[in-house]
Amino acid sequence: MSFLVLQGLTKHYAAARATDAIDLVVARGSRTSIVGPSGSGKSTLMRLIAGFEAPDAGTIRLDGTVLAEGGISMPAHRRGIGIVVQDGALFPHLSVAENVAFGLPPRDAGRAARVRDLMAMVDLDISLLDRRPDQISGGQQQRVALARALAPNPRLLLLDEPFSALDTALRISTRKAVIALLAATGVTALLVTHDQAEALSFADQVAVMHKGRLAQVGPPHRLYRQPVDRMVAEFLGEAIILSAVIEGRAATSILGPLAVAEGHPSGRAEVMLRPEQVRVHVLSAEAGVHGAGVFGRVMEMEFAGASCAMVVEVPGGAPAAPARRIALQRSSMDALPVGTQVQISVAGEAHVFG
Ligand SMILES: Nc1ncnc2c1ncn2[C@@H]1O[C@H](COP(=O)(O)OP(=O)(O)OP(=O)(O)O)[C@@H](O)[C@H]1O
Ligand SMILES: [Mg+2]
Repeated sequence: MSFLVLQGLTKHYAAARATDAIDLVVARGSRTSIVGPSGSGKSTLMRLIAGFEAPDAGTIRLDGTVLAEGGISMPAHRRGIGIVVQDGALFPHLSVAENVAFGLPPRDAGRAARVRDLMAMVDLDISLLDRRPDQISGGQQQRVALARALAPNPRLLLLDEPFSALDTALRISTRKAVIALLAATGVTALLVTHDQAEALSFADQVAVMHKGRLAQVGPPHRLYRQPVDRMVAEFLGEAIILSAVIEGRAATSILGPLAVAEGHPSGRAEVMLRPEQVRVHVLSAEAGVHGAGVFGRVMEMEFAGASCAMVVEVPGGAPAAPARRIALQRSSMDALPVGTQVQISVAGEAHVFG
């Protein structure tokens, strides 16, 4: 069910390899998130797919049709692809209604009704229809851009940071509305985002981009739990990376013996835990000692509303080895004062970097 297929897609600018031999397959009706550091080539990739740029090498196929190959590139307006770019890019001299209707056939009798439906879909009040883009807010402009991209019923929707100008609550509600809209219409979508949680929650497939290449592509859960390397691990969330000695299904580390999947060669390796795997228990006379966990001490505690960021120091393991500080997140209801003596246990398996 491959719908969009990219093979060896390459675009070089004078000073930068913006995309470098990208291979990617996107299933029909699915959602893919693309994440990566600034300058890693995400927008370039979107522009190549949309047809605003021609690749230097490689192929783009959509639903069996070649869009670009060997220097031949189908013009953007014939591709049936909707795009919402980073800054919205509305036509400044057109009203909101004219912007939304831009891609619709000019003499379509249902045009006005379609514009109203689209405004409702993106949760915009129709009282805005006669305003110009500079007379509405940044968040409203992004939603007008989304409505404009959806108007001609695109086969593929490209979203380049479409929610970045929205505040947290509006961002979450708009994202949910877009997911529902995509599911209802069966439109295939690619989303570029800087927001890790957004990338993981939006998509069936996540692609991590780094220096013009795709470092790893796969289901969100797999990329989060089993990243191929440290860069991917740290890009998708907080990661606790420890050196360990693997033997069978155990990794001996500064946090004691950790369970690992079978099949890893014995010897030294780097392992990764996500902070939510690390449980902290307060040591007290009543509570007693919890299983085999190592002991530590709370060194920092920072309140951040629902959660708090905590730093726990654990001793270095071997004699004279330096102590290690580990950053953890907790519910702020479970905040602990600096200096509290704790014991640490680990839930689930540590991931071994290959
Ligand atoms: N038109 C251009 N001319 C020359 N270099 C370009 C051009 N567009 C992009 N680049 C370069 O290509 C690289 C990739 O840029 P791109 O805009 O694709 O990155 P990005 O991943 O979208 O970054 P951001 O997260 O900051 O939006 C960068 O080094 C950038 O400077
Ligand atoms: Mg970009």
